[in-house]
Amino acid sequence: MKKLLSLLFIAILFANCTKEDKVVGLITDKAMVVSARVEASQIGSDILKKGGNAYDAMIATQLGLAVVYPVAGNIGGGGFMVFRHHDGKSGALDFREKAPLSSDKDMYLDEKGEVIPGKSSFGVHSSGVPGSVAGIVEVYEKYGSLPFKDLVQPAIDLARNGFKVTKKQANSLNGTLSRFKKANNYQILFDREWKEGDLLQQEELAQTLERIRDNGRDGFYKGKTADLIVDYQKELGGIITHQDLEKYKAIWRKPIVFDYKGYKITSMTMPASGGICLAQILKSVEPYDFSKIDHNSTKYIQLLTEAERRSYADRAHYLGDMDFVNVPIDSLIAPKYISERMLDFSWDKATKSSDVSHGKVLGYESDETTHYSIIDQFGNAVSVTTTLNTGYGSKVLVKGAGFFLNNEMDDFSAKPGVPNVYGLLGSTANAIAPEKRMLSSMTPTIVEKDGKLKMVVGTPGGSTIITSVLQNILNVVEYDMGMQESVNKARFHHQWMPDNIRMEPNGFDSITKANLKTLGYELLERNSLIIGRVDAILVLPNGKLEGGADPRGDDAAVGF
Ligand code: GLY
Repeated sequence: MKKLLSLLFIAILFANCTKEDKVVGLITDKAMVVSARVEASQIGSDILKKGGNAYDAMIATQLGLAVVYPVAGNIGGGGFMVFRHHDGKSGALDFREKAPLSSDKDMYLDEKGEVIPGKSSFGVHSSGVPGSVAGIVEVYEKYGSLPFKDLVQPAIDLARNGFKVTKKQANSLNGTLSRFKKANNYQILFDREWKEGDLLQQEELAQTLERIRDNGRDGFYKGKTADLIVDYQKELGGIITHQDLEKYKAIWRKPIVFDYKGYKITSMTMPASGGICLAQILKSVEPYDFSKIDHNSTKYIQLLTEAERRSYADRAHYLGDMDFVNVPIDSLIAPKYISERMLDFSWDKATKSSDVSHGKVLGYESDETTHYSIIDQFGNAVSVTTTLNTGYGSKVLVKGAGFFLNNEMDDFSAKPGVPNVYGLLGSTANAIAPEKRMLSSMTPTIVEKDGKLKMVVGTPGGSTIITSVLQNILNVVEYDMGMQESVNKARFHHQWMPDNIRMEPNGFDSITKANLKTLGYELLERNSLIIGRVDAILVLPNGKLEGGADPRGDDAAVGF
């Protein structure tokens, strides 16, 4: 029944966005926040209204989501931020989780060398050292303008006073109850039956946030919060120590910047694969004239699929934390290399993934993440994707501290050739090592045209993040869609292995699907109800902003 309702919802969603009935998102004059929940977007927008900048709003929104969207919003996880300052300067912050000091490349294998099912993705052993609090403090120290305590206080109030649980949220929580029980040695706050409209208050989380408000990063990585994390790790047999927490640092990175048909695209670099793969795929399709290819037609799906296949094969082989392994970024996004990778593409039949390996270069998340996009009244833009990995991360709720720890260790390759929860393969480049950061698909992205800000975009969706961002860029740039129209469009995804095109059911016509099958493509609509939840902002030609808040979730745009 639940599945039937979901299918009906998707059918209505896509039926609502035909050209004749163009959907338009929230339009504002100056500033906007689009995130997974209206409460968090409102918190961010209120900070902007008080005179705060996009970086202040980032901190407030991140913490707001940690309260109101515990499935993915977090202080026990990590993420990435790409920014474009009002003066055109861009940059990126990596606050991805790290493997604990006593981690080991074989830590998820049994005595026969086989992967122990679920150990890297569920429970106390699946967590990396969290990076989100270090991330927001780093952002504050470099770019914050309002008093730090003012940025944290709205989340504290929301946690203490509570908020109404939505229908989707109640379903999500109820669907996870047995795993909450299994992952913890006490009855956690979330472990009860939920219904729409229930009030969710989180006093322990409010107190944790107060410690962060008063002590900054020490409010999390030292003192009472750190003690609570480490004590519960010990109780459950985990390996995160005080030393792990104290040593964690967020790192400013040089983002991936490239040109696509005169648009400047800035996206996240390693340990997020998003920027490199986005560059590879867009560069692969750049030579084609999209005015001759209908949106979501057989040819469109074919072209993107073949480019995605080749890029994800490279991802599996080459990509890993570049502080540990040599990632040949320049070679992987070099135009000559990319055009050579597409040489064997044919419109006449599907390439088989088994015939595609990584190219030769010189040198060498349920998928629950969340993304928010912010543009402030000063012209600063931030694009932030943050996660616990799968829904509610490890399902371990730190006793006495009220927040979930991530299960990000599953984004490492536990054993080369064995897929993770997203079916993604990895090589030794993404093997576990102490203090290494696991490979991510997160793709927070900013698009500019003629030196001006055009679009801020990103999404959750595990391995499908990259291809959802890709399709939204093409929707706007090649098909002239508005932001909400673009976000609503049906999406598809190919990731080399498994060799199939994942499609949102009822989003694609039967002739297109029949054509693709004739060409040799395997289609997967089942178990693929939605792909991503894109939250994006488009700067319109008149300078106003249009929000695209994904109706697949409870996402909302708020601004002024
Ligand atoms: N945990 C999903 C990702 O980082 O890609």
